[in-house]
Amino acid sequence: MALKCSVELHIPTAIHNLGGAASLPDLVTALSLPQSKLPFLRRLMRLLVTSGIFVADSNAEVETYRLNPLSWLLVEGVEAEDHTYQKYFVTATVSRHYLEAGLSLADWFKKDLHAPLPSPFEELHGVPLVHETTKLLDEELDRIVNKGVAAHDNLAIGTILRECIDLFKGLRSLTDCGGGDGTTVRAILRAYPNIKCTVLDLPKVIENAPTHDLVNYVAGDMFHTISPAQAVMLKLVLHFWTDEDCVKILEQCRKAIPSREEGGKVIIIEIILGPSMGPIMYESQLLMDMLMMVITRGRQRDENDWREIFVKAGYSNYKIVKKIGTRGIIEVYP
Ligand SMILES: C[S@@+](CC[C@H](N)C(=O)[O-])C[C@H]1O[C@@H](n2cnc3c(N)ncnc32)[C@H](O)[C@@H]1O
Repeated sequence: MALKCSVELHIPTAIHNLGGAASLPDLVTALSLPQSKLPFLRRLMRLLVTSGIFVADSNAEVETYRLNPLSWLLVEGVEAEDHTYQKYFVTATVSRHYLEAGLSLADWFKKDLHAPLPSPFEELHGVPLVHETTKLLDEELDRIVNKGVAAHDNLAIGTILRECIDLFKGLRSLTDCGGGDGTTVRAILRAYPNIKCTVLDLPKVIENAPTHDLVNYVAGDMFHTISPAQAVMLKLVLHFWTDEDCVKILEQCRKAIPSREEGGKVIIIEIILGPSMGPIMYESQLLMDMLMMVITRGRQRDENDWREIFVKAGYSNYKIVKKIGTRGIIEVYP
């Protein structure tokens, strides 16, 4: 709630606009808050500093607050290639609809619901999230969720391109399945302009995607057919779906790629649950799994879960290419 409050007040943007460091009186003035709120702002900032959102410089004569890499992502209007503004991920996650769904979890557990099992969100609100009917529940929620998911998903590609140079090297063609508005593919093309790139997504997404000379946009349904390419990428798509649906999607991917000998592969970018990166990373992976449990029919998966899905979808082998933070990159071979 404190984080939501800070992004709604635009505190990160104000600190940035004040030159990267701001005292409480600076902030009160910049945010046009009543002077009487200064002691309350001090308490809010104290918590957010301790939670790792801001940095406090308490050795200065007047205590000042600075941004860190996390709050930098909450600064609005930054024109930089790898900057993705995360305000809407915060506001969606603590929206009334998400919170009510989370608060209904015990009731959901007790109900003997029939398959396909609705998420607590769907059971409570009557519509699924990130669906064409979500806006019937609340247009503003639908808007902030779509913006929040896009910002969250676009966060990783710069790091992936930096850390996994072999992933796309030598690729002739790539289909980004569920590739949204093509932000990921455009970043890949900047690094590898010779890859023939296709973005496949639902018609309503493709209709609003920006045009690009080198990107072939295809409006379709990944459960029916996927545009052929040497590699198909599924970045942050499968966690939204049940295991049965993941098998169906991966079966379509297999039809779209050539044999392993001809370089065919599926590239999956997702969380690979596991405690190996320490308790803080593992807890954040598990919190993302709880989020999936409350708002979707999908889940986060450990390596065994992934292996089982690959085998069921008819793949011969896989390789975990790298783990970056909470996420991992898996190459799956036909
Ligand atoms: C969570 S987003 C991931 C976006 C993108 N891969 C990224 O990392 O930025 C999931 C995407 O899957 C798309 N999608 C959902 N159902 C689909 C379907 N049946 N066929 C194709 N795309 C679909 C959604 O429209 C959305 O753009």
